[in-house]
Amino acid sequence: MPPSRMAGNGRETVLATVIDGKQVAASVIDTVKAATAALDKQSGVQAGLAVIIVGDDPASHAYVGSKSKMAKECGFKSVQHTLPVETTQEDLAALVASLNADDTIHGILVQLPLPKHLNSEPIIQSILPEKDVDGLHVVNAGKLAVGDLETGLVSCTPAGAMVFVRRTHGEDLSGLNAVVVGRSNLFGKPMAQLLLNANATVTIAHSRTKDLPSVCRSADILVAAVGRPEMVKADWVKRGATVIDVGINRIAAPEKGEGKTRLVGDVAFAEAAEVADVITPVPGGVGPMTIAMLMANTVIAAHRAAGQTPPKF
Ligand SMILES: NC(=O)c1ccc[n+]([C@@H]2O[C@H](COP(=O)([O-])OP(=O)(O)OC[C@H]3O[C@@H](n4cnc5c(N)ncnc54)[C@H](OP(=O)(O)O)[C@@H]3O)[C@@H](O)[C@H]2O)c1
Repeated sequence: MPPSRMAGNGRETVLATVIDGKQVAASVIDTVKAATAALDKQSGVQAGLAVIIVGDDPASHAYVGSKSKMAKECGFKSVQHTLPVETTQEDLAALVASLNADDTIHGILVQLPLPKHLNSEPIIQSILPEKDVDGLHVVNAGKLAVGDLETGLVSCTPAGAMVFVRRTHGEDLSGLNAVVVGRSNLFGKPMAQLLLNANATVTIAHSRTKDLPSVCRSADILVAAVGRPEMVKADWVKRGATVIDVGINRIAAPEKGEGKTRLVGDVAFAEAAEVADVITPVPGGVGPMTIAMLMANTVIAAHRAAGQTPPKF
């Protein structure tokens, strides 16, 4: 039973269950660690992840640092290639080619965005699809589009959001309406396809959608991935819905002091939590799942390379 509280108008409202993304991510990591150890024991194969970073953008270095650290914690061979900002397209392509040919590396991740003089698309498409643990290769996008979840790799953030959906609604979403707001290749499209594969009736909304609030109100599962702070209001949410907030927006927080900021999602959390049954917070919701699913994809890729059945997440 979700907790209740008195709303500002004196009416008792039932508050949504708030998904603890850190806790779910930790349980995914536990499964990754166990599967990594079992693979090593059965086949003598240590899962290997290579992360490439070009340039010195501090935010990208922080992300890559936590990915490499988590890979080590999972028991992977963890390799980080830190390249100078003046790296050429040819140098970067040559590094990817050498990692493609390295049997001890099962996952290759190129941290985006790359410096402006480099073209990321040919680099991403040159990663072997079976090592594309970010799930950005057109072969992996295509496998997802035709419903092949057995041999493809799925983009990490939608894969993580889908773990929440499965833990809330089970494997089969038959009869449920899902609305995904946002149609990016990185998130919106793969998320919609995952929901469709699980038998949900899926609508993809975007900036050209007419009457977005009423489209959202039809959703039993509402996923917001737009990048607009607190855009989704309580009256966009169907009572009892599951709301997954993917947005990460930094806004001014004068209440914390001059010049301070805070993170919010694409959903007006406090008011939406009075209508939804289940909701994810920002931060601490989908965010922690992205790194966890990167580890999951790497151990899946390593199992496939060793001819073993990978774990399910
Ligand atoms: N690890 C994580 O937690 C994680 C990972 C990925 C993304 N994110 C966050 O998720 C958000 C979306 O990321 P993204 O990469 O998918 O962004 P994106 O490529 O910028 O796509 C945004 C989507 O939102 C749509 N949109 C923009 N304004 C809208 C409006 N007023 N009404 C309806 N739809 C609108 C756009 O529609 P059009 O296509 O019509 O322009 C587009 O499809 C960002 O805040 C990002 O930081 C978080």
